[in-house]
Amino acid sequence: IVTASAVLASLTMVAGVAQAQERDLRIAFDVPYEPFEYKDENGELTGFEVELAEAMCEEMSANCEFVIQAWDGMIPGLLARKFDLIMSSMSITPERAERVLFSEPYYNTPGGWFAREDFDTDVTDMAAMEGLTVGVQRGTTMDTYVTEEMGGTVTINRYTTADDMVLDLEGQRLDVVFVDYPVGEQTILTKDGFKEVGEPVKLGEGVGVAMRKRDADLAKEVNAALATLKEDGTYDTIMNKYFAY
Ligand code: ARG
Repeated sequence: IVTASAVLASLTMVAGVAQAQERDLRIAFDVPYEPFEYKDENGELTGFEVELAEAMCEEMSANCEFVIQAWDGMIPGLLARKFDLIMSSMSITPERAERVLFSEPYYNTPGGWFAREDFDTDVTDMAAMEGLTVGVQRGTTMDTYVTEEMGGTVTINRYTTADDMVLDLEGQRLDVVFVDYPVGEQTILTKDGFKEVGEPVKLGEGVGVAMRKRDADLAKEVNAALATLKEDGTYDTIMNKYFAY
């Protein structure tokens, strides 16, 4: 027989433990990067990763604060303790893994090529691409790819934000843009006069939450929370909301 006072005692203990574990976490996003992280009409931060972060924080009983950080300062900001986690569609690469600790991948995104409707060049044909101007977000896996594969052949325009790059494609200052596929699909293909060209290119081993190397315990908790959200259907619900075409 369980007495009322025993139940009460164990409840207090549970509450005590939950209290002790509640921690403050700051998570960094680079906006706009629709559908991953962007501001809605009311200026509220939203998107696939923002909602995933909210669910993850709840699962971890963490007190989370969301921080806006320009992409090119992401890893330096993390290392300088301006925030504790990056959830900004950061692809897992060996170079980055030397500086940060990645969670298990929670998403996969290839790079996609997008251009105005009249573009008719094969992006894999270097002779044909000669002299054309390609736009990428600075410091991304797309930047690295274009620099390594096409540097010297094309002119590369590097942008601090993804939206400035899309504006330049619209303004005809770029011939083609190379960006995370879902971003092009939702911010370029939704406008009149644009199309996808060539084939998407696999870059990195999925997208992960990035943390400081010494935060191995935090990484374990993050992985456990993500696994739970995948199991209980929360992950799919959020996914379907932002990737339902
Ligand atoms: N997935 C690409 C990378 O890791 C681009 C990510 C850019 N993310 C952003 N929120 N702007 O390099």
